[in-house]
Amino acid sequence: MKHIYHILFVLLFTLIVNGCNYDKFEELYPQTLNNNPCDSSVASTYNLSVKYILSSNCISCHSSDIASGGVILDNYEAVLEQAQKGALMGAVLHKGGYQPMPPGSSIPQCQIEKLQKWIDAKEPQ
Ligand code: HEC
Repeated sequence: MKHIYHILFVLLFTLIVNGCNYDKFEELYPQTLNNNPCDSSVASTYNLSVKYILSSNCISCHSSDIASGGVILDNYEAVLEQAQKGALMGAVLHKGGYQPMPPGSSIPQCQIEKLQKWIDAKEPQ
């Protein structure tokens, strides 16, 4: 019997700890509330999808302050410019003639698809 209480305690503790972590994530990224970039039911707009994908994969090197290679990806207008000249998809799809991004890796396929859907929809904000 003691054993069962112990297991229940551990389970409860795990649930509580995980619950707290999730709350913090939502506080840190309020714009991602209900937004999983791989959830195809979330609209492919800049504010609902693209911003989160670029924040989590790209802006460590492409903010207005850092701007590696002169490329800024932390605001709608700047991202639009990279998208319309083909560099955004060129970089994430590792197309010839573009530097593959992020350097040395790829973002998940479903995030690439979200970016492509956004461009196909004429980059809604
Ligand atoms: C670790 C830092 C780093 C990360 C993370 C990073 N980049 Fe870059 N990016 C660079 C550097 C450095 C350059 C300039 C490369 C050069 O000119 O040789 C660059 C260049 C680019 C270019 C111009 C490419 C070209 O050939 O015209 C684009 C577009 C770009 N990055 C998009 C992205 C995107 C989108 C992401 C996220 C998916 C990303 N980057 C993540 C460092 C980074």
